[in-house]
Amino acid sequence: MQWSSFVAFALFAPTHALIRFGCSQLVVDRLDPLVNPGQNPSPHLHQIIGGNAFNTSMFPEDLDPPKVATCTTCQPSEDFSNYWTASLYFRARNGTYKRVPQKGNVGFEGQNGGMTVYYMQNQLADYQQLSKVKAFQPGFRMLIGSPEASTKEQADKYPQLTYTCLQDMNTRFPETKDFPKKPCPAGIMVNVRFPTCWDGVNLDSPDHISHMSYPASGTFESQGPCPASHPVRMPQVLYEVIFETKAFNNQADWPTDGKQPFVWSFGDTTGYGNHGDYVFGWKDDSLQKIMDEACYVNCKSMKTQSIDAMNACSIPRRVNEDIGDENWLEAIPGQPMIR
Ligand SMILES: *[C@@H]1O[C@H](CO)[C@@H](O)[C@H](O)[C@H]1NC(C)=O
Ligand SMILES: *[C@@H]1O[C@H](CO)[C@@H](O)[C@H](O)[C@H]1NC(C)=O
Repeated sequence: MQWSSFVAFALFAPTHALIRFGCSQLVVDRLDPLVNPGQNPSPHLHQIIGGNAFNTSMFPEDLDPPKVATCTTCQPSEDFSNYWTASLYFRARNGTYKRVPQKGNVGFEGQNGGMTVYYMQNQLADYQQLSKVKAFQPGFRMLIGSPEASTKEQADKYPQLTYTCLQDMNTRFPETKDFPKKPCPAGIMVNVRFPTCWDGVNLDSPDHISHMSYPASGTFESQGPCPASHPVRMPQVLYEVIFETKAFNNQADWPTDGKQPFVWSFGDTTGYGNHGDYVFGWKDDSLQKIMDEACYVNCKSMKTQSIDAMNACSIPRRVNEDIGDENWLEAIPGQPMIR
């Protein structure tokens, strides 16, 4: 090999990593340090995973998660980020509610609730993962989706927030923008994919969305280019949240008008209000190191902990209220308008 081509190879050496990992439940609580910092309780209930520095407010100037957290519910032991979504409720024919529990994905059956998180450079089915990405920086946070969305048109502003009706644990399509219309034998999987183009400057923005963008054309999956306003290609963060609907799949318990019975904790019965939140908290540059390794799922630079250790990390609920794990509730916590 000539020196010049060796240099070219060294400079452009493909870097490729895709990581997929389970995280147990940290807490289920009515707090939202991103949208409603300092507010206890926040308007609606969330299920939260990740580092135990999660708090009522988490302003980056007050709190750097990897410095404050002493444990994480995620498999990578250096990931003290927090990831959350709304919780899901089942509404019985008599109008009372019970919270739908979550379960781990294939390979993470022993985890307590929680969800699966991915960071990828190219689409999931691409084993090369050749596109370079820049890891998120300390203080970075974002959300995607809108709890206000109640029509398909509104939901389509966020193209990659979907539901998969699990026939078994390996079902991956079709994906729908609204709640499945029929019982799903293995549960309902909620897929939350974040935008992947960063403005390169702001760690957050007033709506927690606009410092990020979808590609200018095409999609992340088709390696569409980032727009000039948001030129930095970041890893795609994907949440898979599996709601275990087993106890609620008897159609005799479903509404008599043919509607489906699940309600987001913010009152949405359509499913179009699907949204997720992210507060970055990987230790030092551990995420960038992993993304720069050539690996697919099994990445040597990703330090891991056991499922027992993941399950051992949790924090107490701060909001003292019945969230409907055992009792049927007259109303969802916070009494959102059901729509
Ligand atoms: C949460 O924030 C409060 C107030 O700043 C603080 O006293 C408390 O220690 C924090 N909890 C955790 C788990 O960091
Ligand atoms: C409401 O329905 C649930 C589920 O069928 C049942 O367990 C519960 O006892 C009912 N509550 C009342 C007050 O009828």
